[in-house]
This record gives sequence, C-alpha cells and structure tokens, in this order.
Amino acid sequence: MTLADLHALLAARASTRAFAPTPLPRERLAALFATAQRAASWCNIQPWRVAVTEPPHTEVVRAALVAAARGGLPSPELPFPINYPAPYDQHRRACGGALYAAMGIPRDDKAGRYDAWLRNFALFDAPHVAIVSVDKRLGPYALIDVGVWLGTFLAAAAADGVATCPMASAVAYPQAVRAHLPIPADHHLLFGIALGTPADAPANACRTDRSPIEANVTFVA
Ligand SMILES: Cc1cc2nc3c(=O)[nH]c(=O)nc-3n(C[C@H](O)[C@H](O)[C@H](O)COP(=O)(O)O)c2cc1C
Repeated sequence: MTLADLHALLAARASTRAFAPTPLPRERLAALFATAQRAASWCNIQPWRVAVTEPPHTEVVRAALVAAARGGLPSPELPFPINYPAPYDQHRRACGGALYAAMGIPRDDKAGRYDAWLRNFALFDAPHVAIVSVDKRLGPYALIDVGVWLGTFLAAAAADGVATCPMASAVAYPQAVRAHLPIPADHHLLFGIALGTPADAPANACRTDRSPIEANVTFVA
C-alpha cells in the first residue's frame, strides 16, 4: 500500500448515521479488532477495553439508551465539551450544518432536530455497537492511547468496507450502558462505535471537510 492509497482510503471514510439491519459475521468483526490491536500505546499498555454487541443484545442496549435519552439529561463519565473557542467553534458549526443539510432539516425545525438527536441513542439502527472504556487508574496518556486505537480501528473498518460512526452519545447515559454490558466499575466509559453496513438514507450523504495542514502543522527549520 502506498501513501496515496492510504490517503484515498481515509479521504473516502465518513461517519455513517443510518445503518441497514443486517449484522456482520463475528469473524469479520474479530478481524477488524485484530487489526486495530496493532495500535501504538505508551509502553505498549494497550489500555482500550471494548464490549461489542451482536443481535439480539444490540436491541437491549438501544432500547435502554433511547429510554434514557427521552427521560433525562446526559451525564457522561468524562465531561462533554460545551463551549468551543475559535477556531474550533467554526468547525463544530460546519459539522452540524453539514449533517442537518444532508438530512434536510432546517435550522428552525426544533422537532426535526430533536428527532435527529434521538437517532444517536437509537445507534442509527446499527446492528452492533462497540462500547469502549479505560481503567480509571490510568492517566490522560491512556486516553491518547485509546484515541490512537480508535483511529486505527476506523481505518481498518474503512479498508474492509465496514460502516462506522464513533459516538460519544453512546455513553452519554452511563447507567443505560452499564446495566446491560460488562463494563468494570473501575473503568471510565469513553465512547461507542456503531458498526454495520450503510442504509440508503440522506444522513449518509453528510461529508465534512478538513483544513489545509497550515492550520494544524508548523514546520520549523
Ligand atoms: C470521539 C468521537 C465522538 C463522536 N461522537 C459522535 C456522536 O455522538 N454522534 C455523531 O453523530 N457523531 C459523532 N462523532 C463523529 C464526528 O461528528 C465525525 O467524525 C466528524 O464530524 C468528522 O466527520 P467524518 O467522520 O464523517 O469524517 C464522534 C467522533 C468522535 C471521534
């Protein structure tokens, strides 16, 4: 594989927000996790821990999340960012705008936006969700390690044609998740990854752009 091949793969990857119901075979899922297992981590501690649902258990988690979201405010174990300063706020607005535009939801359509928000907790109908946690005793660098793993996993899935959506919202109601999955009490819930094959739906037309590298990278000679 060349750098151009990898660039093309990553450029073509996009979050999927409407899934077909057909589950993926256990072996295909396992092959993705085996590839992501090669991710680098500080001292090779490999701190990611993952609980992956398969039908019918995905429905149990989905129902619990939707009920929790309808019933109360999110209370994630790691605080969600609320106010983004510039320039991050522009990216955040553009990201939301791209999704609502793809779904045909106008800015002032509060009911439409609420329904779109609720779709997160229905896991976008995905047949699988991988819930990722980390041991609380490990510090912030373990979070970096898990982020490296996530990027590796998303690339592996893209290479195999598996649709994904990384989802903080999947852990926004921790009790709903903990009640139905074996998450150790001494772990922080970090995020979920919805997994499956894409449905033919407007939400999946959403595309986000990226800044030129000058916004992120400084060369110092
Ligand atoms: C840690 C993390 C959490 C995310 N949480 C959500 C989420 O709860 N709901 C959602 O629709 N997208 C979520 N996303 C997807 C991002 O919105 C998406 O990756 C970003 O807008 C870039 O778009 P792309 O993935 O299509 O390239 C999350 C992504 C990451 C990395």
